Amino acid sequence: MIVISMGKIIFPMMALLVLALVPEAQSWSKEGHMLTCKIAQELLEEDAAEAVKNLLPRYVEGDLSKLCTWPDQIRLWYKYRWSSPLHFIDTPDGDCSFNYARDCHDQHGNEDMCVAGAVRNFTEQLMHYREGSSDRRYNLTESLLFLSHFMGDIHQVWDRDIILQAMSKYYEKDLDVFLKDLQKNLTTGMWSNEIPSWVDCEDLSSCTDEYAAESIGLACDWGYKNVTNGETLADEYFDSRLPVVMKRIAQGGVRLAMILNRVFGGEEEEEIPWPT
Ligand SMILES: *[C@@H]1O[C@H](CO)[C@@H](O)[C@H](O)[C@H]1NC(C)=O
Ligand SMILES: *[C@@H]1O[C@H](CO)[C@@H](O)[C@H](O)[C@H]1NC(C)=O
Ligand SMILES: *[C@@H]1O[C@H](CO)[C@@H](O)[C@H](O)[C@H]1NC(C)=O
Ligand SMILES: *[C@@H]1O[C@H](CO)[C@@H](O)[C@H](O)[C@H]1NC(C)=O
Repeated sequence: MIVISMGKIIFPMMALLVLALVPEAQSWSKEGHMLTCKIAQELLEEDAAEAVKNLLPRYVEGDLSKLCTWPDQIRLWYKYRWSSPLHFIDTPDGDCSFNYARDCHDQHGNEDMCVAGAVRNFTEQLMHYREGSSDRRYNLTESLLFLSHFMGDIHQVWDRDIILQAMSKYYEKDLDVFLKDLQKNLTTGMWSNEIPSWVDCEDLSSCTDEYAAESIGLACDWGYKNVTNGETLADEYFDSRLPVVMKRIAQGGVRLAMILNRVFGGEEEEEIPWPT
């Protein structure tokens, strides 16, 4: 079983180690989610920026990142208990792949109940935004917060410890300094040429499956490579894995923006024709 859980993948034999190493292993990667949302919001085109602003409650003053961790805060509330299995994916023991039909379900076998199903679900719900506000089937504010959060979860392959270590080692514990460095690498730095391939996507459902498969692959190749139970993770582990974590945060943000721009944007082919 591999669990992508709030930015963490745990092999059963690893669970103890991770818990022992990271006292806050049960508190989720707040910083990673905020960074992903901050990156995304900066990349929104006009229509999407406007829609996001309209959907956010007034008190966050237009800042999506302030509510990107909301789905973590409410997941155990009675009203939102249904959302709890949506934060992760279980894949079979030792299998480093993702197969939607096989893997995307909750522990009772209910289909679509995993993070990849959730990304599809809330993307579809947000498509109703352009139809106007008369449709009350969904609370689109919640759909936006869930989508923004789950795009983080589907990309984050480690617990927040690695992000927190990076924050104090390189960024004076300042999220904005961290963000600036990520943005520099996106706009002029090492990732600037890769962005077109990150957002290259014909069909959002299959792209979502790819993002999940990437995370599972990275967890197998990096997360738990060369780590044995009971071992204390060395600086070398941290330094070699950090670039992978950074890139996933950035990819999550860039791809969240891509989805929001599509969902809210006025693409020509989707323009509503005049009645005749
Ligand atoms: C989709 O969202 C609705 C709430 O709007 C929820 O009841 C349902 O469980 C969700 N399903 C998935 C797969 O996310
Ligand atoms: C939509 O959800 C948000 C967050 O849970 C809540 O504050 C708001 O009142 C809801 N809106 C409606 C119309 O129910
Ligand atoms: C940005 O790129 C430089 C190398 O060009 C790297 O040292 C640094 O860690 C990167 N920062 C982030 C946040 O990815
Ligand atoms: C695992 O350890 C081997 C031997 O020390 C090393 O060659 C390899 O690069 C390491 N792989 C990772 C992903 O750390």
